[in-house]
Amino acid sequence: MRIAIYPGTFDPVTLGHLDIINRATKLFDKLIIGVAQDTGKNTVFDIDERLNLVKNQVAQMANVEVKSFSGLLVNFAKKENCCTIIRGIRVISDFEYEFQLSLMNKKLAPELETVFLMTSSDYLFLSSSVIKQVSSLGGCIEGLVPADVAKALYKKLKSNK
Ligand code: COA
Repeated sequence: MRIAIYPGTFDPVTLGHLDIINRATKLFDKLIIGVAQDTGKNTVFDIDERLNLVKNQVAQMANVEVKSFSGLLVNFAKKENCCTIIRGIRVISDFEYEFQLSLMNKKLAPELETVFLMTSSDYLFLSSSVIKQVSSLGGCIEGLVPADVAKALYKKLKSNK
């Protein structure tokens, strides 16, 4: 059984992430989506909210599990018997950071491979931060995040005001 992990902050999950998730499920027997607690980012949604928003999107997918983790990604990946880390690459500027991340992970756990999937052209410009900024300034995020994520985001932004 070949198990892959797709790690991220998912603050919040976007259609860009879901595109990577959909494609990764076709390449592996099982995909674990690892929602990270320790990313150094100041998140809008807490860990349970991020976890549940991702869970809602993949509830119908048979070979996908969503779990939160703290500490090093490689330790969690090994505990879950994963052989591969999946990362999405959008633009060339992602590459340097992703290269560093994958080399560090390789140093920590040589048995784990990182596989990069190119983000679909529809989502090249997308990031969770852009979504949060646009929605906080009243812009439309339809077609960029699932409808319930947009709803949760507007609610959160309202309560934070
Ligand atoms: N579609 C849409 N958005 C995408 C995307 C895609 N296909 N691919 C990436 N993004 C966005 C993400 O939403 C994120 O946006 P944000 O910065 O606005 O939040 C950004 O691009 C990628 O951010 P990045 O910091 O590269 O990744 P991440 O936050 O998703 O995940 C972890 C980082 C969790 C993988 C990393 O912090 C980690 O491994 N943490 C655990 C601790 C650890 O092991 N550290 C040592 C690592 S060597």
